[in-house]
Amino acid sequence: MKIEAHPHPVNEARREQILADPGFGLHFTDHMVLAEWTVADGWHDVRVQPYGPLSLDPATAVFHYAQEIFEGLKAYAHDDGSVWTFRPADNAARMQRSARRMALPELPADLFLEAVDTLVRTDVAWVPRGAETSLYLRPFMFASEVFLGVRPAEHVTFCVIASPAGAYFPGGLKPVSLWLSEEYTRAAPGGTGAAKCGGNYAASLAAQQEANQHGCAQVVFLDAVERRWVEELGGMNLYFVRDDGSIVTPQLSGSILAGVTRDAVHTLLDGLGHKVEERAVGIDEWRDGVRSGEVTEVFACGTAAVVTPVGRLCWRGGEVDSSVTHAGAAGPVTAEVRQALVDVQYGRAADEHGWMHRVV
Ligand code: COI
Repeated sequence: MKIEAHPHPVNEARREQILADPGFGLHFTDHMVLAEWTVADGWHDVRVQPYGPLSLDPATAVFHYAQEIFEGLKAYAHDDGSVWTFRPADNAARMQRSARRMALPELPADLFLEAVDTLVRTDVAWVPRGAETSLYLRPFMFASEVFLGVRPAEHVTFCVIASPAGAYFPGGLKPVSLWLSEEYTRAAPGGTGAAKCGGNYAASLAAQQEANQHGCAQVVFLDAVERRWVEELGGMNLYFVRDDGSIVTPQLSGSILAGVTRDAVHTLLDGLGHKVEERAVGIDEWRDGVRSGEVTEVFACGTAAVVTPVGRLCWRGGEVDSSVTHAGAAGPVTAEVRQALVDVQYGRAADEHGWMHRVV
């Protein structure tokens, strides 16, 4: 891969200042990976170049018809100085599935992995070393053809950028409050809910604003047909712990994103001896379950959010809080599975499932 080094990288003192308190999605490393796809030449011109603005014609198709997909994964520094990504092949495979749904060209998995690895190696000085920090990697692909007709673009660009990351939620491990969206839905059967495309996230923002107006950090979306089944938060999947020790998560209905963290959490919970079921979860099962004590913990999971305890579920006219019995902290199962996950990611526990991929 051709590498053009940045002529003026961020100086070490400033970089260290950023890495000491990176926040989420605010700062970017010195380089990025780009690749082009055309009908005639397929994928070509894969290169690393200095991070910086892309100059795009106003008629570039993505601005108009949102033909775009993305991924999210992290690189973790281990105590011995090595750097690892978590299940990158799963992100590569999901990007191919998203591409098929959005009529974009599939990026070969080995090219995805090479792009991510090369960016991490080039900008390895940007992998933060602090507790529970990581380098968030954001591969994305968009219709870069300059054309206003509505059809799949014949020129597509793939890009990977990297951003040092701390906690997604500023409150750290404090339970987040959720707003139940009764007016808006995120995805319908046959739609794009299972694809990781920008449009799904754009569609969630009005509901997100409503959540914020009601003092909540995130939105819970229900299914679009019966408005009864819990789907996801838009950027995170949900798990429910029941008083008999069993755990449920909404099944992949076709309109839910198949989270890599969601899948890892299922496997880890199995290994910890919990019985996990993937099935439809009704909103009443959540509301009534918290009230009756049958639902003892609720948590959200995702690459950015890791495992985050859920506290209040609010809607027009009421609320329940699944964190009161845990004194406003993470419940025991939430804390247990979170610890098991981060211990694998940071190399403190054996990688029994072959999830970690060494980059440096
Ligand atoms: C991720 O967890 O990587 C996502 O894409 C979700 C987004 C809320 C940052």
